[in-house]
Amino acid sequence: MELVLATKNLDKIKEIKETFKNLGVKIFTFKDFPHFPSVVEDKETLYGNALKKARTIARFTGKIALADDSGLQVEALGGAPGVFSARFAGEKATYKDNNRKLLSLLEEIPLDRRKATFRCFIAISGGGIKERVVEGICKGRILQEMRGENGFGYDPLFQPEGSTRTFAQMSLKEKGEISHRGKALRKAGKVLEEWGNTTVIGLTGNIGSGKTTAARMFAELGAEIIEADKIGHDLIKKAEVEENLIRTFGSSILDEKKKIERRKLGRIVFKDKKKLEELNQILHPLIGSEIKKKIVSSKARVVIIDAAILLEAGWDSLVDKVLVVSASYEAQLKRIKKSTRFSPEEIEGIMQAQGPQDKKIQRADFLIRNEGSLEETRRQVEQIWGELVARC
Ligand code: IMP
Repeated sequence: MELVLATKNLDKIKEIKETFKNLGVKIFTFKDFPHFPSVVEDKETLYGNALKKARTIARFTGKIALADDSGLQVEALGGAPGVFSARFAGEKATYKDNNRKLLSLLEEIPLDRRKATFRCFIAISGGGIKERVVEGICKGRILQEMRGENGFGYDPLFQPEGSTRTFAQMSLKEKGEISHRGKALRKAGKVLEEWGNTTVIGLTGNIGSGKTTAARMFAELGAEIIEADKIGHDLIKKAEVEENLIRTFGSSILDEKKKIERRKLGRIVFKDKKKLEELNQILHPLIGSEIKKKIVSSKARVVIIDAAILLEAGWDSLVDKVLVVSASYEAQLKRIKKSTRFSPEEIEGIMQAQGPQDKKIQRADFLIRNEGSLEETRRQVEQIWGELVARC
């Protein structure tokens, strides 16, 4: 797995590399990317700044990004400097300036009232649902003079609980074992290990493109398939969803057993854009959160979300890569007529609702052109599978 550190702070980079040295992750830094952006830390919390940095750098590099935002909270100063730790003594303050300011503000405060906490938020963002923020804290106190030459920032003044030395008197390894950053990084490491084990692919394509055939081939190779349609069909049977749909579309969508008949509902929504929108607003968020639950609980190396409306419903935000199956309009029509009982108007309505194929192709990380024989499709599936398995 590859990871890029969303920081230009060489002291933090050193600590992160030390903690992750046995994780089996290839680490990149700003030095590997020309034009690596500096992210403005304008959020009100450490949490917010960490997430902003990780998201920005993940987007810029296309890799999983890890960002740290940390700060010192001193009890006698009401939690200051907190989010302002780096610029406590001013915008261009050095570590020394900040330490001097801290010492002078605490001048009158005796040792037993100089309690402080280092707090570190680590955000990791890899696009899709791969986004987490973890926290580590380290309690201690602020000494009355600086001690030690190692570390950075407030290290020479901070003595962690249970220790007779400051962080600046410890080696990188010793500090990492008890520090706020070390604790947060170990939690982040566990998350990365989980992520490394699963690649989530969104499989999409319009009706008749052969998407389901491709999904079946991937399943034979060992992928777990999550079918969005099936989730939707099951949801409609749930009492609260059923009630909501009857309230919105009326009892004409029911069969003789007073259950929702999907085809009747389809006839209403596929010829009326507004009604389709209403149905989508009810079902899409519910289907999205079911998909998310299934991804999180999956143990498979490759999980495939099979969804014709993956992009239209915004579920592509849940996946690592998008795979599109395409076919010519004629080939699609031929297949639909052969395998379904839909009327020409119904087919037209469904095709309209699924959005244009070209847009899907533009968003594709992988593309299967499904015009020829099953063997040709299988060959393309196997080639993509090879690439996916090599990645994870
Ligand atoms: P950030 O770059 O916004 O996260 O600001 C972090 C600031 O908090 C640094 O410039 C240091 O002044 C301080 N800080 C954070 N972590 C540590 C640490 O481990 N030791 C000492 N100071 C730290």
